[in-house]
Amino acid sequence: MKVAVVGTGYVGLVTGVTLSEIGHHVTCVDIDEVKVDKMKKGISPIYEPNLSELMNKNIGAGRLNFTTNYEEGFSNAQVIYIAVGTPENDDGSANLQYVEQVATTIALTAKQDTIVVTKSTVPVGTNDRLQRIIDCTKLYHISIEVVSNPEFLREGSAILDTFQGDRIVIGAKSEKAANIVAEVNRPLNIPVYTTDIRSAEMIKYASNAFLATKISFINEIANICERVGADVEKVAVGMGLDKRIGPGFLKAGIGYGGSCFPKDTKALIQIAGNVEYDFEVLKGVVNVNKKQQRKVLSFLYEQLPRVQDKKIAVLGLAFKPKTDDMREAPSIPIINELIEAGAIIYAYDPIAEENARKFLDSSVHYVEKIESAIEQADAVLILTELDEILNINLSIFYRMNYPLIIDGRNCFEINQLEQFQYEYYSIGRSTLKPHYPLLESR
Ligand code: UGA
Repeated sequence: MKVAVVGTGYVGLVTGVTLSEIGHHVTCVDIDEVKVDKMKKGISPIYEPNLSELMNKNIGAGRLNFTTNYEEGFSNAQVIYIAVGTPENDDGSANLQYVEQVATTIALTAKQDTIVVTKSTVPVGTNDRLQRIIDCTKLYHISIEVVSNPEFLREGSAILDTFQGDRIVIGAKSEKAANIVAEVNRPLNIPVYTTDIRSAEMIKYASNAFLATKISFINEIANICERVGADVEKVAVGMGLDKRIGPGFLKAGIGYGGSCFPKDTKALIQIAGNVEYDFEVLKGVVNVNKKQQRKVLSFLYEQLPRVQDKKIAVLGLAFKPKTDDMREAPSIPIINELIEAGAIIYAYDPIAEENARKFLDSSVHYVEKIESAIEQADAVLILTELDEILNINLSIFYRMNYPLIIDGRNCFEINQLEQFQYEYYSIGRSTLKPHYPLLESR
Protein backbone atom coordinates (compact mmCIF):
# COMPACT_ATOMS: atom_id res chain seq x y z
CA MET A 1 0.00 0.00 0.00
CA LYS A 2 1.15 3.59 -0.51
CA VAL A 3 1.43 5.26 2.88
CA ALA A 4 2.55 8.68 4.16
CA VAL A 5 3.66 9.44 7.72
CA VAL A 6 3.73 13.03 8.96
CA GLY A 7 6.23 13.72 11.74
CA THR A 8 9.51 11.88 12.19
CA GLY A 9 9.90 11.86 15.97
CA TYR A 10 10.15 8.55 17.82
CA VAL A 11 6.62 7.48 16.91
CA GLY A 12 6.57 8.72 13.31
CA LEU A 13 9.98 7.47 12.26
CA VAL A 14 9.51 4.04 13.86
CA THR A 15 6.05 3.79 12.25
CA GLY A 16 7.39 4.78 8.82
CA VAL A 17 10.38 2.47 8.96
CA THR A 18 8.45 -0.56 10.25
CA LEU A 19 5.63 -0.07 7.72
CA SER A 20 8.22 -0.05 4.93
CA GLU A 21 9.80 -3.17 6.43
CA ILE A 22 6.48 -5.04 6.12
CA GLY A 23 6.27 -4.11 2.44
CA HIS A 24 4.46 -0.78 2.19
CA HIS A 25 5.75 2.15 0.14
CA VAL A 26 6.23 4.86 2.73
CA THR A 27 7.00 8.54 2.47
CA CYS A 28 7.84 10.29 5.74
CA VAL A 29 7.08 14.00 5.76
CA ASP A 30 8.68 16.47 8.15
CA ILE A 31 9.06 20.24 8.03
CA ASP A 32 12.63 20.10 9.38
CA GLU A 33 14.85 20.28 6.28
CA VAL A 34 18.09 19.44 8.08
CA LYS A 35 16.53 16.34 9.60
CA VAL A 36 14.99 15.24 6.29
CA ASP A 37 18.34 15.66 4.48
CA LYS A 38 20.00 13.44 7.08
CA MET A 39 17.27 10.81 6.93
CA LYS A 40 17.50 10.69 3.13
CA LYS A 41 21.12 9.67 3.63
CA GLY A 42 20.06 6.98 6.07
CA ILE A 43 21.08 8.88 9.20
CA SER A 44 18.54 8.45 12.00
CA PRO A 45 17.98 11.61 14.11
CA ILE A 46 17.31 9.46 17.18
CA TYR A 47 19.00 6.49 18.78
CA GLU A 48 16.79 3.43 18.79
CA PRO A 49 18.12 -0.13 18.57
CA ASN A 50 17.89 -1.51 14.97
CA LEU A 51 16.26 1.64 13.62
CA SER A 52 19.21 2.76 11.45
CA GLU A 53 19.68 -0.73 10.03
CA LEU A 54 16.03 -1.07 9.01
CA MET A 55 15.97 2.49 7.74
CA ASN A 56 18.93 1.94 5.43
CA LYS A 57 17.65 -1.44 4.29
CA ASN A 58 14.29 -0.01 3.20
CA ILE A 59 15.72 3.17 1.67
CA GLY A 60 17.93 0.82 -0.38
CA ALA A 61 14.93 -1.29 -1.36
CA GLY A 62 13.15 1.85 -2.61
CA ARG A 63 10.28 1.50 -0.12
CA LEU A 64 11.17 4.40 2.19
CA ASN A 65 11.45 8.07 1.23
CA PHE A 66 11.66 11.36 3.07
CA THR A 67 10.45 14.78 2.05
CA THR A 68 9.56 18.22 3.40
CA ASN A 69 6.92 18.61 0.73
CA TYR A 70 3.41 17.60 1.82
CA GLU A 71 2.06 17.41 -1.73
CA GLU A 72 4.85 15.09 -2.79
CA GLY A 73 4.42 12.98 0.36
CA PHE A 74 0.66 12.66 0.05
CA SER A 75 0.52 12.03 -3.70
CA ASN A 76 -1.35 8.72 -4.23
CA ALA A 77 -1.16 7.88 -0.50
CA GLN A 78 -4.17 5.75 0.48
CA VAL A 79 -3.33 6.07 4.16
CA ILE A 80 -1.76 9.09 5.89
CA TYR A 81 -0.49 8.72 9.47
CA ILE A 82 -0.35 11.73 11.76
CA ALA A 83 2.54 11.32 14.21
CA VAL A 84 3.43 14.88 15.14
CA GLY A 85 4.05 16.01 18.71
CA THR A 86 1.36 16.92 21.24
CA PRO A 87 3.51 18.82 23.77
CA GLU A 88 2.26 19.72 27.21
CA ASN A 89 0.58 23.09 27.74
CA ASP A 90 1.30 24.99 30.96
CA ASP A 91 -1.88 23.60 32.55
CA GLY A 92 -0.96 19.98 31.71
CA SER A 93 -3.33 19.69 28.75
CA ALA A 94 -2.10 18.46 25.35
CA ASN A 95 -1.22 21.07 22.76
CA LEU A 96 -3.04 20.05 19.58
CA GLN A 97 -1.99 22.80 17.20
CA TYR A 98 0.43 20.62 15.21
CA VAL A 99 -2.06 17.76 14.83
CA GLU A 100 -4.74 20.19 13.67
CA GLN A 101 -2.37 21.89 11.22
CA VAL A 102 -1.56 18.53 9.63
CA ALA A 103 -5.27 17.62 9.37
CA THR A 104 -5.92 20.93 7.61
CA THR A 105 -3.01 20.37 5.24
CA ILE A 106 -4.28 16.88 4.40
CA ALA A 107 -7.73 18.32 3.68
CA LEU A 108 -6.21 20.91 1.35
CA THR A 109 -3.86 18.49 -0.39
CA ALA A 110 -5.52 15.06 -0.74
CA LYS A 111 -6.97 14.41 -4.18
CA GLN A 112 -8.25 10.86 -3.66
CA ASP A 113 -10.12 8.92 -0.98
CA THR A 114 -7.83 8.82 2.05
CA ILE A 115 -7.73 7.26 5.50
CA VAL A 116 -6.09 9.56 8.08
CA VAL A 117 -4.66 7.56 10.97
CA THR A 118 -3.87 9.40 14.20
CA LYS A 119 -0.87 7.86 15.96
CA SER A 120 -0.18 10.87 18.16
CA THR A 121 -1.63 10.59 21.66
CA VAL A 122 -4.63 12.93 21.65
CA PRO A 123 -7.36 13.71 24.19
CA VAL A 124 -10.71 11.98 23.81
CA GLY A 125 -12.76 13.77 21.17
CA THR A 126 -9.78 15.07 19.17
CA ASN A 127 -10.25 12.69 16.26
CA ASP A 128 -13.89 13.75 15.94
CA ARG A 129 -12.65 17.34 15.90
CA LEU A 130 -10.06 16.50 13.23
CA GLN A 131 -12.82 14.88 11.16
CA ARG A 132 -14.86 18.09 11.38
CA ILE A 133 -11.85 20.23 10.42
CA ILE A 134 -11.21 18.01 7.42
CA ASP A 135 -14.85 17.90 6.34
CA CYS A 136 -15.08 21.68 6.46
CA THR A 137 -11.76 22.27 4.70
CA LYS A 138 -11.37 19.59 2.04
CA LEU A 139 -11.18 20.88 -1.51
CA TYR A 140 -12.30 17.89 -3.54
CA HIS A 141 -15.37 15.69 -3.48
CA ILE A 142 -13.56 12.77 -1.87
CA SER A 143 -13.89 10.70 1.32
CA ILE A 144 -11.33 11.42 4.04
CA GLU A 145 -11.97 9.35 7.16
CA VAL A 146 -10.10 9.80 10.43
CA VAL A 147 -9.14 6.66 12.37
CA SER A 148 -7.52 6.42 15.80
CA ASN A 149 -4.66 3.92 16.05
CA PRO A 150 -2.69 4.67 19.23
CA GLU A 151 0.83 3.35 19.57
CA PHE A 152 2.06 1.33 22.51
CA LEU A 153 5.77 1.12 21.76
CA ARG A 154 8.45 1.86 24.29
CA GLU A 155 11.55 3.89 23.58
CA GLY A 156 14.60 1.68 23.58
CA SER A 157 12.61 -1.30 22.29
CA ALA A 158 10.34 0.46 19.80
CA ILE A 159 11.16 -1.76 16.82
CA LEU A 160 10.74 -4.95 18.84
CA ASP A 161 7.49 -3.68 20.36
CA THR A 162 6.12 -2.86 16.90
CA PHE A 163 6.77 -6.38 15.64
CA GLN A 164 5.80 -8.13 18.87
CA GLY A 165 3.05 -5.90 20.27
CA ASP A 166 0.26 -7.38 22.41
CA ARG A 167 -2.50 -5.66 20.46
CA ILE A 168 -3.29 -3.14 17.76
CA VAL A 169 -6.16 -0.83 18.71
CA ILE A 170 -8.20 0.66 15.90
CA GLY A 171 -10.94 3.19 16.60
CA ALA A 172 -13.05 3.93 13.53
CA LYS A 173 -16.49 5.11 12.56
CA SER A 174 -16.87 2.83 9.56
CA GLU A 175 -16.03 -0.84 9.21
CA LYS A 176 -14.44 -0.07 5.84
CA ALA A 177 -11.90 2.34 7.35
CA ALA A 178 -11.13 -0.03 10.23
CA ASN A 179 -10.54 -2.85 7.76
CA ILE A 180 -8.12 -0.77 5.68
CA VAL A 181 -6.02 0.05 8.76
CA ALA A 182 -6.16 -3.59 9.87
CA GLU A 183 -5.02 -4.59 6.38
CA VAL A 184 -2.02 -2.20 6.60
CA ASN A 185 -0.99 -3.96 9.83
CA ARG A 186 -1.88 -7.52 8.75
CA PRO A 187 1.75 -8.63 8.06
CA LEU A 188 2.58 -7.90 11.72
CA ASN A 189 0.26 -10.73 12.75
CA ILE A 190 -0.76 -9.03 16.01
CA PRO A 191 -4.31 -9.29 17.45
CA VAL A 192 -6.45 -6.32 16.40
CA TYR A 193 -9.06 -4.80 18.66
CA THR A 194 -11.52 -2.62 16.76
CA THR A 195 -13.68 -0.17 18.64
CA ASP A 196 -15.18 3.31 18.43
CA ILE A 197 -12.90 6.32 18.10
CA ARG A 198 -13.35 7.80 21.57
CA SER A 199 -12.75 4.48 23.31
CA ALA A 200 -9.56 3.98 21.29
CA GLU A 201 -8.33 7.41 22.33
CA MET A 202 -9.11 6.60 25.98
CA ILE A 203 -7.40 3.18 25.78
CA LYS A 204 -4.11 4.93 25.12
CA TYR A 205 -4.36 7.33 28.08
CA ALA A 206 -5.81 4.71 30.42
CA SER A 207 -3.04 2.23 29.53
CA ASN A 208 -0.24 4.70 30.20
CA ALA A 209 -1.93 5.97 33.36
CA PHE A 210 -2.38 2.42 34.63
CA LEU A 211 1.27 1.55 33.99
CA ALA A 212 2.33 4.77 35.76
CA THR A 213 0.03 3.77 38.64
CA LYS A 214 1.76 0.39 38.93
CA ILE A 215 5.12 2.18 39.14
CA SER A 216 4.04 4.70 41.78
CA PHE A 217 2.29 1.91 43.71
CA ILE A 218 5.38 -0.29 43.85
CA ASN A 219 7.50 2.74 44.74
CA GLU A 220 5.29 3.45 47.74
CA ILE A 221 5.43 -0.23 48.73
CA ALA A 222 9.24 0.09 48.44
CA ASN A 223 9.28 3.05 50.79
CA ILE A 224 7.27 1.07 53.32
CA CYS A 225 9.51 -2.00 52.80
CA GLU A 226 12.51 0.08 53.87
CA ARG A 227 10.81 0.88 57.16
CA VAL A 228 9.48 -2.59 57.95
CA GLY A 229 12.52 -4.59 56.81
CA ALA A 230 10.97 -6.22 53.73
CA ASP A 231 12.62 -6.40 50.27
CA VAL A 232 10.60 -4.80 47.47
CA GLU A 233 12.28 -6.90 44.77
CA LYS A 234 10.99 -10.06 46.43
CA VAL A 235 7.60 -8.48 47.08
CA ALA A 236 7.30 -7.57 43.37
CA VAL A 237 8.13 -11.13 42.31
CA GLY A 238 5.55 -12.54 44.70
CA MET A 239 2.90 -10.08 43.55
CA GLY A 240 3.67 -10.54 39.87
CA LEU A 241 3.10 -14.29 40.03
CA ASP A 242 -0.59 -13.51 40.38
CA LYS A 243 -1.80 -13.43 36.76
CA ARG A 244 -4.31 -10.75 37.66
CA ILE A 245 -1.45 -8.44 38.65
CA GLY A 246 1.30 -9.55 36.25
CA PRO A 247 5.04 -9.04 36.73
CA GLY A 248 5.53 -6.02 34.43
CA PHE A 249 6.04 -2.45 35.63
CA LEU A 250 6.67 -3.45 39.21
CA LYS A 251 10.29 -2.38 39.25
CA ALA A 252 10.81 0.07 42.10
CA GLY A 253 13.15 2.98 41.46
CA ILE A 254 13.29 6.74 41.29
CA GLY A 255 10.08 7.01 39.33
CA TYR A 256 9.02 7.25 35.74
CA GLY A 257 10.26 9.85 33.28
CA GLY A 258 10.29 10.26 29.52
CA SER A 259 8.04 11.95 27.03
CA CYS A 260 4.96 9.81 27.71
CA PHE A 261 4.00 8.94 31.29
CA PRO A 262 4.60 12.39 32.84
CA LYS A 263 2.73 14.12 30.01
CA ASP A 264 -0.09 11.61 29.58
CA THR A 265 -0.89 11.27 33.29
CA LYS A 266 -1.21 15.04 33.60
CA ALA A 267 -3.27 15.23 30.41
CA LEU A 268 -5.68 12.57 31.68
CA ILE A 269 -6.15 14.46 34.95
CA GLN A 270 -6.93 17.49 32.79
CA ILE A 271 -9.32 15.50 30.55
CA ALA A 272 -11.16 14.29 33.67
CA GLY A 273 -11.18 17.81 35.10
CA ASN A 274 -12.77 19.13 31.90
CA VAL A 275 -15.79 16.94 32.58
CA GLU A 276 -15.77 17.86 36.27
CA TYR A 277 -14.25 14.59 37.43
CA ASP A 278 -11.54 14.63 40.06
CA PHE A 279 -9.17 11.76 39.17
CA GLU A 280 -7.86 11.33 42.72
CA VAL A 281 -5.86 8.14 42.19
CA LEU A 282 -3.96 9.56 39.24
CA LYS A 283 -3.20 12.80 41.09
CA GLY A 284 -1.64 10.64 43.80
CA VAL A 285 0.39 8.75 41.21
CA VAL A 286 1.85 12.01 39.86
CA ASN A 287 2.67 13.33 43.34
CA VAL A 288 4.31 10.09 44.44
CA ASN A 289 6.45 10.15 41.29
CA LYS A 290 7.61 13.68 42.00
CA LYS A 291 8.64 12.73 45.55
CA GLN A 292 10.26 9.49 44.43
CA GLN A 293 12.65 11.31 42.08
CA ARG A 294 14.17 13.04 45.11
CA LYS A 295 14.86 9.81 46.95
CA VAL A 296 18.49 9.53 45.93
CA LEU A 297 19.05 13.09 47.10
CA SER A 298 17.52 12.35 50.51
CA PHE A 299 19.85 9.36 50.92
CA LEU A 300 22.79 11.48 49.81
CA TYR A 301 22.11 14.43 52.11
CA GLU A 302 21.67 12.09 55.09
CA GLN A 303 25.22 10.84 54.60
CA LEU A 304 26.81 13.87 53.03
CA PRO A 305 24.97 16.99 54.24
CA ARG A 306 27.48 19.34 52.58
CA VAL A 307 28.03 18.45 48.92
CA GLN A 308 29.94 21.60 48.08
CA ASP A 309 33.17 20.75 46.20
CA LYS A 310 32.41 17.03 46.56
CA LYS A 311 32.88 14.87 43.49
CA ILE A 312 29.60 13.12 42.73
CA ALA A 313 29.55 10.43 40.05
CA VAL A 314 26.22 10.16 38.25
CA LEU A 315 25.83 6.90 36.35
CA GLY A 316 23.01 7.00 33.79
CA LEU A 317 21.35 10.18 32.56
CA ALA A 318 18.52 9.18 30.22
CA PHE A 319 15.08 8.35 31.67
CA LYS A 320 15.73 4.69 30.87
CA PRO A 321 18.43 2.55 29.26
CA LYS A 322 19.03 2.15 25.51
CA THR A 323 17.75 5.60 24.63
CA ASP A 324 19.25 9.06 24.20
CA ASP A 325 15.97 10.68 25.30
CA MET A 326 16.49 13.11 28.16
CA ARG A 327 12.92 14.42 28.33
CA GLU A 328 11.67 14.42 31.95
CA ALA A 329 14.67 12.37 33.03
CA PRO A 330 15.03 12.35 36.84
CA SER A 331 18.73 13.11 36.30
CA ILE A 332 17.89 16.71 35.29
CA PRO A 333 16.38 18.01 38.57
CA ILE A 334 18.79 15.89 40.61
CA ILE A 335 21.93 17.19 38.87
CA ASN A 336 20.63 20.76 38.79
CA GLU A 337 20.07 20.71 42.53
CA LEU A 338 23.51 19.25 43.23
CA ILE A 339 25.25 21.79 41.02
CA GLU A 340 23.33 24.56 42.73
CA ALA A 341 24.69 23.24 46.04
CA GLY A 342 28.25 23.38 44.68
CA ALA A 343 28.85 19.69 43.88
CA ILE A 344 31.18 18.67 41.06
CA ILE A 345 29.36 16.27 38.75
CA TYR A 346 31.01 13.54 36.70
CA ALA A 347 28.40 11.92 34.47
CA TYR A 348 28.41 8.69 32.49
CA ASP A 349 25.85 7.81 29.79
CA PRO A 350 27.44 7.36 26.38
CA ILE A 351 24.16 7.08 24.46
CA ALA A 352 22.47 10.09 26.07
CA GLU A 353 25.54 12.30 26.47
CA GLU A 354 25.03 14.39 23.35
CA ASN A 355 21.41 15.16 24.25
CA ALA A 356 22.23 15.57 27.93
CA ARG A 357 24.51 18.50 27.08
CA LYS A 358 21.40 20.38 25.90
CA PHE A 359 19.57 19.75 29.20
CA LEU A 360 22.28 19.98 31.85
CA ASP A 361 24.52 22.72 33.18
CA SER A 362 27.74 23.19 31.20
CA SER A 363 29.81 22.48 34.33
CA VAL A 364 28.96 18.75 34.15
CA HIS A 365 32.01 16.63 33.24
CA TYR A 366 31.10 13.81 30.86
CA VAL A 367 33.28 10.72 30.99
CA GLU A 368 33.73 7.90 28.49
CA LYS A 369 34.51 5.29 31.12
CA ILE A 370 32.67 4.57 34.34
CA GLU A 371 36.06 4.32 36.08
CA SER A 372 36.78 8.00 35.37
CA ALA A 373 33.57 9.03 37.12
CA ILE A 374 34.10 6.76 40.10
CA GLU A 375 37.80 7.48 40.70
CA GLN A 376 38.10 9.60 43.89
CA ALA A 377 34.36 10.25 43.98
CA ASP A 378 32.69 11.08 47.30
CA ALA A 379 29.42 9.45 46.25
CA VAL A 380 27.99 7.54 43.30
CA LEU A 381 24.38 8.01 42.23
CA ILE A 382 22.93 5.40 39.86
CA LEU A 383 20.01 6.92 37.98
CA THR A 384 19.57 4.59 34.98
CA GLU A 385 20.06 0.83 34.87
CA LEU A 386 22.52 0.87 31.94
CA ASP A 387 23.95 -2.54 30.91
CA GLU A 388 27.47 -1.32 31.67
CA ILE A 389 26.40 -0.65 35.26
CA LEU A 390 24.58 -3.96 35.67
CA ASN A 391 27.72 -5.77 34.46
CA ILE A 392 30.24 -3.70 36.39
CA ASN A 393 33.04 -5.34 38.37
CA LEU A 394 31.84 -4.48 41.86
CA SER A 395 35.33 -4.03 43.30
CA ILE A 396 35.58 -0.85 41.18
CA PHE A 397 33.90 1.17 43.95
CA TYR A 398 37.04 0.83 46.10
CA ARG A 399 38.50 3.49 43.83
CA MET A 400 36.16 6.05 45.35
CA ASN A 401 37.26 8.53 47.94
CA TYR A 402 34.67 6.89 50.15
CA PRO A 403 32.41 4.08 48.84
CA LEU A 404 28.99 5.65 49.23
CA ILE A 405 26.74 4.15 46.55
CA ILE A 406 23.16 5.30 46.10
CA ASP A 407 21.42 3.05 43.65
CA GLY A 408 18.16 4.54 42.38
CA ARG A 409 17.49 1.53 40.14
CA ASN A 410 18.34 -1.48 42.31
CA CYS A 411 21.05 -2.58 39.88
CA PHE A 412 22.85 -4.97 42.24
CA GLU A 413 21.83 -7.88 44.41
CA ILE A 414 22.27 -7.09 48.09
CA ASN A 415 24.06 -10.41 48.69
CA GLN A 416 26.53 -9.65 45.85
CA LEU A 417 27.57 -6.51 47.69
CA GLU A 418 27.72 -7.94 51.19
CA GLN A 419 31.31 -9.11 50.74
CA PHE A 420 32.43 -5.51 50.07
CA GLN A 421 32.95 -2.78 52.63
CA TYR A 422 30.56 -0.37 50.93
CA GLU A 423 27.85 1.93 52.15
CA TYR A 424 24.99 1.05 49.83
CA TYR A 425 21.48 2.49 49.62
CA SER A 426 18.87 1.29 47.18
CA ILE A 427 15.10 1.47 46.84
CA GLY A 428 12.92 -0.62 49.13
CA ARG A 429 15.71 -2.85 50.41
CA SER A 430 18.04 -3.06 53.35
CA THR A 431 21.01 -0.73 53.63
CA LEU A 432 24.61 -1.96 53.74
CA LYS A 433 27.24 -0.23 55.87
CA PRO A 434 30.98 -0.86 56.04
CA HIS A 435 32.14 -2.82 59.08
CA TYR A 436 35.01 -0.42 59.71
CA PRO A 437 34.48 3.09 61.18
CA LEU A 438 33.51 5.81 58.72
CA LEU A 439 36.01 8.49 57.77
CA GLU A 440 36.24 11.25 60.37
CA SER A 441 35.68 13.92 57.70
CA ARG A 442 32.13 12.70 57.13
C1 UGA B 1 5.61 4.21 27.59
C2 UGA B 1 4.72 2.94 27.50
O1 UGA B 1 5.38 1.85 28.13
C3 UGA B 1 4.43 2.58 26.05
O2 UGA B 1 3.51 1.49 25.99
C4 UGA B 1 3.81 3.80 25.36
O3 UGA B 1 3.56 3.55 23.99
C5 UGA B 1 4.76 4.98 25.47
O4 UGA B 1 4.99 5.27 26.86
C6 UGA B 1 4.11 6.17 24.79
O5 UGA B 1 3.07 6.61 25.25
O6 UGA B 1 4.58 6.57 23.73
P1 UGA B 1 8.25 4.69 27.37
O7 UGA B 1 7.93 6.01 28.00
O8 UGA B 1 9.05 4.68 26.14
O9 UGA B 1 6.88 3.90 27.02
O10 UGA B 1 9.05 3.82 28.42
P2 UGA B 1 8.72 2.73 29.53
O11 UGA B 1 9.55 1.56 29.27
O12 UGA B 1 7.28 2.51 29.68
O13 UGA B 1 9.31 3.44 30.84
C7 UGA B 1 8.78 4.67 31.33
C8 UGA B 1 9.40 5.05 32.63
O14 UGA B 1 8.95 4.20 33.67
C9 UGA B 1 10.93 4.95 32.66
O15 UGA B 1 11.43 6.09 33.32
C10 UGA B 1 11.21 3.70 33.47
O16 UGA B 1 12.43 3.78 34.17
C11 UGA B 1 10.04 3.70 34.42
N1 UGA B 1 9.69 2.36 34.91
C12 UGA B 1 9.20 1.43 34.06
C13 UGA B 1 9.86 2.06 36.25
O17 UGA B 1 10.31 2.90 37.06
N2 UGA B 1 9.51 0.81 36.70
C14 UGA B 1 9.01 -0.13 35.87
O18 UGA B 1 8.70 -1.24 36.36
C15 UGA B 1 8.86 0.17 34.52
